[in-house]
Amino acid sequence: MNFHVLTLFPDMIKDGLGTSITGRAIDSGKITLNAVNIRDYTLEKHGHVDDYPYGGGAGMVMQAEPIYRAYQSVIEGIKNKKRPRVLYMTPQGKVFNQQMARELAGEEDLIFLCGHYEGVDERILEMIVTDNVSIGDYVLTGGELPAMVMIDSISRLVDGVLNNKDSAEYESFSDNLLEYPQYTRPEEFMGRKVPEVLLSGHHANIEKWRKEQSLKRTMERRPDLLNNIL
Ligand code: ADE
Repeated sequence: MNFHVLTLFPDMIKDGLGTSITGRAIDSGKITLNAVNIRDYTLEKHGHVDDYPYGGGAGMVMQAEPIYRAYQSVIEGIKNKKRPRVLYMTPQGKVFNQQMARELAGEEDLIFLCGHYEGVDERILEMIVTDNVSIGDYVLTGGELPAMVMIDSISRLVDGVLNNKDSAEYESFSDNLLEYPQYTRPEEFMGRKVPEVLLSGHHANIEKWRKEQSLKRTMERRPDLLNNIL
């Protein structure tokens, strides 16, 4: 799986995803991360990538040309004949969830476009973007954190990225339920005991208890999720 990120802050992307599980997945070649600096593709002699909005108003708008040239450089580097999906990070997009992560994990290449300032010239969005995606109903300063959030959640669904296959199978949202509570040693911590059934070694009872806990948790914390399975 190859992630390409068009951004003005490539170090943020590389630093953020270069550690822990995603870092290991990059080192082992399970995923690749190509952070492309849009500024490297400007033709403007001072290196500008933005300008004032036509019609006036606050802030600056990212220009179409450097983004288009950065995008072309990525497309030229992709051997695959199929045009990859281009995901524009925007609070105006469809809200990202686990189902979208699963769907996107099936792609060979994905291009993320991260905006900054007040926005991006609409014409380049019309030309290259296939999906507008938001990570929630709040506004961030740029698309880098949303791209990192998405790449993290998609990566862990790519074969071989998690060493224990089970952990992607029995986790929150995998069947529209939240995950059951987990415990480890010691058996008692500051007077709080691990539920007896987990010490019993009785696998059927443990599974039944976990299922009940998942349902209870989902009812208490995210009852909206239950509408999807009832
Ligand atoms: N850019 C700014 N805010 C965002 C959000 N909530 N989701 C995706 N991209 C964004």
